[in-house]
Amino acid sequence: MADVILKTSKLNKTYFGKVDTPVLFDLDLQILRGSFTALIGPSGSGKSTLLNCLGLLDPQTSGEIDFDGRLISAQNVNDLAGFRNAHIGFIFQFHYLLPEYTAYENILLPCWIRGGRPAPETGREALRIMEHIGIEKLKNKYIAELSGGQQQRVSIARALINRPKLIFADEPTGNLDRESGHAVLDLMAELNRENNVTMVMVTHDRDVALRADYIYELVDGRICKFLDVKKMGKTATAAAIESRTCLIEEP
Ligand SMILES: Nc1ncnc2c1ncn2[C@@H]1O[C@H](COP(=O)(O)OP(=O)(O)OP(=O)(O)O)[C@@H](O)[C@H]1O
Ligand SMILES: [Mg+2]
Repeated sequence: MADVILKTSKLNKTYFGKVDTPVLFDLDLQILRGSFTALIGPSGSGKSTLLNCLGLLDPQTSGEIDFDGRLISAQNVNDLAGFRNAHIGFIFQFHYLLPEYTAYENILLPCWIRGGRPAPETGREALRIMEHIGIEKLKNKYIAELSGGQQQRVSIARALINRPKLIFADEPTGNLDRESGHAVLDLMAELNRENNVTMVMVTHDRDVALRADYIYELVDGRICKFLDVKKMGKTATAAAIESRTCLIEEP
């Protein structure tokens, strides 16, 4: 049987305000443990909204999320800060690093949040991660002194420090040049392969999406394609991405 780490059933999200904005509609999706999944779709289709719900950053309006055996309903998301910090890593396009701290201090931030001053072993772990991703020389630099690609690697190190089961990335290469973007993707793919970290990544770039194992396409808050890249092959998958026809019919 497939080993599913994350599953949603009938997930809905509406932003309430002066005007209510329904964004996600009855989404059913599954993420396999250890897989690399890309989430694509037009601007405004709900990709970031979905990622924020899956990452337990923002409560869904209705429907359930099964996060590795733990059922998360709209009511209990807000109690899950500790769970989230322990099991989930985030990489964003604008990495939300704290400019008044060094790279090393930023990487240790989730540990501070989790339990106060990190143990010396955790500091050594941060250094190991920095070495592994080639930023050990940046340890004592402040964020403003780093290039975009370097900052993104610091944010990846920060996402890894608690050894999460799952990493969510929202356009992680969006503001990088091609070369730095590839380096960041190579690193994510390596972490996925070697450490079995499950990756879910939003991207608008077809070639970036083709590096994933599975691709979901969202259109207007509904899943309209699910593509198995290995099974279909890259050429057929690329053609399916270009196609305007939804491959999953409305129930
Ligand atoms: N906090 C919010 N309050 C109200 N509406 C929101 C909020 N965040 C997003 N929306 C709306 O929800 C819809 C989906 O937004 P979302 O950011 O999820 O799209 P996206 O697919 O990530 O787009 P992009 O590719 O441009 O990043 C949009 O219509 C947006 O205006
Ligand atoms: Mg977005």
